[in-house]
Amino acid sequence: MAFNGKNVLITGASMGIGEAIVRKVAAEGANLALFARSVDKLQGITADLQGKNPRSKVLYKAIDLQSYEAVEKAVSETVKELGDIDILINNVWTYPALRQIMDYTNCRQAGLALGAPAAFPDLKVSDIVTMNSTNINGLMFVTYAVLNSSMMKRKDGTILNVTSVTGLEVPPFPGEAVYHSNKAAQEAFTNALRNELSGTNIRVLALRPGVVATNFHSLRVGHDKGMYDGFMEGYTPLEADEIAGAAIYMLHQPLNISVKALDVVPSAQRSLNVFDRSWSERNK
Ligand SMILES: NC(=O)c1ccc[n+]([C@@H]2O[C@H](COP(=O)([O-])OP(=O)(O)OC[C@H]3O[C@@H](n4cnc5c(N)ncnc54)[C@H](OP(=O)(O)O)[C@@H]3O)[C@@H](O)[C@H]2O)c1
Repeated sequence: MAFNGKNVLITGASMGIGEAIVRKVAAEGANLALFARSVDKLQGITADLQGKNPRSKVLYKAIDLQSYEAVEKAVSETVKELGDIDILINNVWTYPALRQIMDYTNCRQAGLALGAPAAFPDLKVSDIVTMNSTNINGLMFVTYAVLNSSMMKRKDGTILNVTSVTGLEVPPFPGEAVYHSNKAAQEAFTNALRNELSGTNIRVLALRPGVVATNFHSLRVGHDKGMYDGFMEGYTPLEADEIAGAAIYMLHQPLNISVKALDVVPSAQRSLNVFDRSWSERNK
């Protein structure tokens, strides 16, 4: 039970990669604080985890991470209920509701991967604000509150940021300027924070998924099945559980080892713009 008695706070815990990590960490004896907005989903996961792991404490906070007041209150209540946070997993992301699907004909002809939701000038300013405030502010708000409530006084802890391979490579996907720059900002923040926390035992790590079959890819193409299938053509995306396995590997390392960053992609995803679309055919 590697996480026996450890207190783990995870954002974006109501589905996808976050939920998969939660389930693995809970099975190893951790106490958990689940942050997301959907009360019904959080309630369901919490009840299920409590049933399966009766010795673990599990709580949830249904909040929007865009509000620092909400984040600070939720973190402070969590620390009162569970004790100091040992591990923070920043996993949240958001896209605005799609209004416009771009014309991808040229991209398809060039063999490029497809993206969404709209070219930057066509976004609403409110969409830009929502993405920046969730993907950048939200991540920083939770980190700030957890550092100041728990980790700084003990000079101890682990912060695992779920970023993306898109944070490093210049993405050719049209229509995702804000998301990709958010991911680049998360990478920069991860590196800067790691440096600033020198003199403590707080580790700051980045896990970079490639294509994973979650709500994410359906949402990013406006739940358009044709576009979704086109993006996944010729290979199989990873499962959320496989990314969760990589997170567990990073968190299992002893204190003297930091897996600073880990790219975990389907083998067919050679880079952001080169997908081996003969993979499934070759590996039937
Ligand atoms: N799937 C992929 O292929 C892929 C690839 C690269 C990187 N990633 C990264 O992996 C992480 C998890 O993605 P996923 O694929 O698991 O996505 P997902 O299934 O869409 O989950 C996103 C989570 O974020 C929560 N969330 C969204 N906006 C929020 C807000 N304002 N306040 C609080 N919670 C909010 C959602 O819950 P509520 O709606 O209940 O709030 C949900 O739990 C993200 O950082 C993403 O960028 C994913």
